[in-house]
Amino acid sequence: MAQSSMPKLTAPDSEPLVRAEVRVLRPRRAAPADAVRPTRAEVNLEALRHNLRVVQRHAAGAKVWAVLKADSYGHGAAAVARTLERAGADGFCVALLEEAIELREAGIRKSILVMGGYYADAHLEVVARGLVPVVFDTEQIDAFARLVRGGLVEAPIKVHLKIDTGMARLGVPMGGVAKLAAYLADTPEIEVAGLMTHLACADAPTNEETAEQMLRFDEATATLARHGIRAPLRHAANSAAIGRSQARLDAVRPGIAIFGTSPRSLPGSAPLIPDLRQVIRVRTEIIDVREVDAGAPVGYGALWRAPRRSRIATIPMGYADGLSRQLSNKGHVLVRGMRAPIVGAVSMDMSMVDVTDLPGVALRDEAVILGGQEGVLGKDAISADEVAGHMGTIPWEVLTQISRRVPRFYREP
Ligand SMILES: Cc1ncc(COP(=O)(O)O)c(C=O)c1O
Repeated sequence: MAQSSMPKLTAPDSEPLVRAEVRVLRPRRAAPADAVRPTRAEVNLEALRHNLRVVQRHAAGAKVWAVLKADSYGHGAAAVARTLERAGADGFCVALLEEAIELREAGIRKSILVMGGYYADAHLEVVARGLVPVVFDTEQIDAFARLVRGGLVEAPIKVHLKIDTGMARLGVPMGGVAKLAAYLADTPEIEVAGLMTHLACADAPTNEETAEQMLRFDEATATLARHGIRAPLRHAANSAAIGRSQARLDAVRPGIAIFGTSPRSLPGSAPLIPDLRQVIRVRTEIIDVREVDAGAPVGYGALWRAPRRSRIATIPMGYADGLSRQLSNKGHVLVRGMRAPIVGAVSMDMSMVDVTDLPGVALRDEAVILGGQEGVLGKDAISADEVAGHMGTIPWEVLTQISRRVPRFYREP
């Protein structure tokens, strides 16, 4: 079928010639709800640009392919990608094909690497959109090669090959590299434009594991080269590796650092990338303030009882919004610039905080769950790291769990 009769797709100018009708995936994401509740996430685009500059400095000349999977770590895929593209990011990485399509639909023209390796029967759409698929087995390679053999797409299709150097998650295992190299050498329809691996312990206290993984990566690179496969772009480093000046190679894949949280080699130790700025601020407003007697229960299951006569404020944010139920009786929110402890069980849409020690708290006062606040009583900030500590998890989870019920607002300060 002629290209002119294809459904309209967004792809970079350099897209390969596609001569077939393409099934068009249309991933759906809830549009930010019309913000009736005061609960919202503010995404600071200048902080995003600042973090990109910091990462670029640490990357020391390596290309920076920002990792924007999971809705840009919860910050909103399209706006983040547009901002970073304009600010000079060299490319983007996502986990899912749907995420890559969302970025193309948003007008992103830079390279987009689809890292998850799962293409269902949409291989043609991957090519038509000008996306870069990650592959690691013969089935995937064949599925793409068949598009060329069937005359649907012009050769070569560029892919990145993923090597498992010690994470046992995704990628061709070291023992399979030679065989796959021979297979690729016999498959001229496919061009290995990149070689990648992922580091399991880049934030470990010592760099032993990373050094071992990199040795294996070099070994795999040499094996491929013996079969005539030489990728112009090799990449391995996530944020932690970038911070430690390890594994920078030709390109780096920072995720969490772009959003302003630095990995640390131990909880509480120095950030591996200093000077980052947290991009997201999650805020709401107090919708109820009441006095309770000493001994009065608060919330489901009476998990907290007032140790004295207390003032309890209710905020309209709960676990369905991303304020984890693990924060029941743990952690704080900021009110009037000071910390108010979360008391009782976090419920689905609401949580309670103890404001007894904060004079003057009233209805409609702002409550900050994540990020900074300056108020009449002081100035403070809550980091994703701090919240993760209370939850017994990692900041990656804190950021990505802010749910789609919370509208994202983009700010140029
Ligand atoms: C393959 C791959 N590369 C890079 C990253 C970015 O990692 P980080 O957020 O630690 O920088 C991830 C995220 O987990 C990933 O899965």
